[in-house]
Amino acid sequence: MSDRLIVFDTTLRDGEQSPGASMTRDEKVRIARQLERLRVDVIEAGFAAASPGDFESVRAIAESIKDSTVCSLARATERDIRTSGEAIKPAARGRIHTFIATSPIHMEKKLRMNPDQVVDAAVAAIHMAREYTADIEFSAEDAVRSEVDFLVRIFGEAIRAGATTINVPDTVGYSVPGQWGRLMETLIARTPGADKVVWSTHCHNDLGMAVANSLSAVLAGARQVECTINGLGERAGNASLEEIVMAVKTRRDVFACDTNIDTTQIVPSSRLVSQITGYPVQPNKAIVGANAFAHESGIHQDGVLKHRETYEIMRAQDVGWAANRITLGKLSGRNAFRQRLEDLGIAPSTEQALNEAFARFKELADRKSEIFDEDLQAIVSGESEVKAEHYKLISLAQRSEMGERPVSKVVFACDGKEFATEAEGNGPVDATVKAIEQQAKSGAELMLFSVNAITTGTESQGEVTMRLQKDGRVVNGVGADPDIVVASALAYLNALNRLSVAPKANPQQP
Ligand code: KIV
Ligand code: ZN
Repeated sequence: MSDRLIVFDTTLRDGEQSPGASMTRDEKVRIARQLERLRVDVIEAGFAAASPGDFESVRAIAESIKDSTVCSLARATERDIRTSGEAIKPAARGRIHTFIATSPIHMEKKLRMNPDQVVDAAVAAIHMAREYTADIEFSAEDAVRSEVDFLVRIFGEAIRAGATTINVPDTVGYSVPGQWGRLMETLIARTPGADKVVWSTHCHNDLGMAVANSLSAVLAGARQVECTINGLGERAGNASLEEIVMAVKTRRDVFACDTNIDTTQIVPSSRLVSQITGYPVQPNKAIVGANAFAHESGIHQDGVLKHRETYEIMRAQDVGWAANRITLGKLSGRNAFRQRLEDLGIAPSTEQALNEAFARFKELADRKSEIFDEDLQAIVSGESEVKAEHYKLISLAQRSEMGERPVSKVVFACDGKEFATEAEGNGPVDATVKAIEQQAKSGAELMLFSVNAITTGTESQGEVTMRLQKDGRVVNGVGADPDIVVASALAYLNALNRLSVAPKANPQQP
């Protein structure tokens, strides 16, 4: 058995299925570049047939990524396969990932197909996919609730038709580790042609066991893990990339395989995904949480100071915590700014976008003595097509005093026309949102408001996420500024801009 574990990242596809996490094309390209720097083997760039926007995103990623395989998801239908095939055409290495449900409940109630029809559809899809690439992955959706004999049959047929990776998903997060490992072992032992393909596992986290189940499958012979940064994903999320990678690396004695991941890029990847999607990382999250390497108790601190390994099984710098460094200051010039953005994989789309970002950097550098990479990421966040925006903040004045109701005066532009507005609220953020809403009249419902410090110290920029819902659509707006009331106004307007972008034409996701 190979000792190489393939890391398949689906942040841009399954991760994007988290409420409000939908990303613009430019944001997806930025994340894809970071995933390439992280050295993931396969980037699932999207579901090309879902909408023209998804097609464009997969294609843009296929054009810009050189070192990782770029993959598009496709149902087992002609339209999906051909759309995916076209989208991945520019890729240096392209994969089509086709899937069909195999559990009795999905086949009967959702697909309304019998098992023979399901096998035929899978085989036909794989044959068609071979017109575009030799790298074909086949998934049996809801494998966890499928009959083992049927899985053996359909996987055998898929291999005969030309699939090169066979993926076994726990679509509903129902399995437990021992059972999942045994299923993988059985499938590898019984499926004809099993030795010709890479076996893959794809686990959801509904019972909090996605990582444990994935690792159990690895012990049973899986050599590809499907996962997302920060465990982002539909419902309770997918298996978290950082936890799987560090478990395999730290416990090589148990797993006997290696990934190609540059682990020092884990924390920068986590931050970028959190910043772009507006999904904060919980402080006690393994590997990437702010407290993951913080020792609070005196006994632990004493032990770590005397000998790090008394309480630490990994080094913080090995997962990229040291990457948090001061990069630029107020005297830095435009070239240094451009260079640092390039180092971070950020290429402003036009000279004007670069100039605008540079002006915001200078303004920030006047107010904050140390500028970190995270600050630069925040400066350019939102400098995407959403920024061809309806709403733009022009100024904000806010007055609050203990015992008084705060008042906020906001000036913002909507499609070039300026609005001045003023409101009172329970707190300064409430007053600011009320003032904006008074004029914008979006009628959207605020579902989540969160504030995080981007770096350390009270000088840090506050990063605000506002999740809005309107007519069944959910979007996350993000804003960053050293003044958290300004950051809140930016986040609210960013969310309104996202609501104003047309929804996906075909939001039918797996
Ligand atoms: O969870 C799932 O079953 C999926 C498949 C499309 C692989 O995401
Ligand atoms: Zn999934």
